[in-house]
Amino acid sequence: MRIKIAPSILSAEPARLNEEVKEIEPYSDLIHVDIMDGKFVPPVSFAPSEIKAVKTKLPKDVHLMVQNPEIKFIDDFADAGANIITIHAEGCKDINKAIEKIRKKGIKVGISINPPTSLGVIKPYLNKVDMVLIMSVNPGYPGQKFIPDVLPKIKELRKLKPNLDIEIDGGINKETVKQAVDAGANVIVAGSSIFGQKDRKKAVEELRAAAK
Ligand code: DX5
Ligand code: ZN
Repeated sequence: MRIKIAPSILSAEPARLNEEVKEIEPYSDLIHVDIMDGKFVPPVSFAPSEIKAVKTKLPKDVHLMVQNPEIKFIDDFADAGANIITIHAEGCKDINKAIEKIRKKGIKVGISINPPTSLGVIKPYLNKVDMVLIMSVNPGYPGQKFIPDVLPKIKELRKLKPNLDIEIDGGINKETVKQAVDAGANVIVAGSSIFGQKDRKKAVEELRAAAK
């Protein structure tokens, strides 16, 4: 499968978001947007208006690390220009309702699970989503260490769904990316390993080369 690189702008310089995005845009496939509500995870991140203000040709891949996304966040971020919205299985009372709400907005649907959550929790929804995001750190903060224990979940999922987009998020760098790709991931999120480098272009290119 083609590898897609999705830099996470959570690690970009907040005051220069548009410049940061312009710099990585030619070498990347998606812009990964981490949304945190202070409940599902302790921090709070971007407001919808800040994401609406990001100008890019690339799809905005919005990862909702929030409690009850169906109440407000799905509407707000779809209206802010999200092209894909990913919800967390652990944060939804009614997963089907959340999926339907995203679909009604005419955009792609992703579902995510944290490292301790088993694949079984999302198996009933696999035919209803465009992407599964397997978290490889406990969500909330960039710059954490990759948890290799999640790799068997990716392998199992790839066997079940040969053509599904499988995204990996957390602790991905040129040392860890190959394990994730070999297990079956094809959408690669990276925050600190891209925006923590002075030369962003080189960082994306090195990550892509290491994924092969
Ligand atoms: C984790 C977020 C990630 C994070 C990735 O809570 O969902 O997208 O920003 O950051 P790195 O690549 O630094 O682990
Ligand atoms: Zn994320």
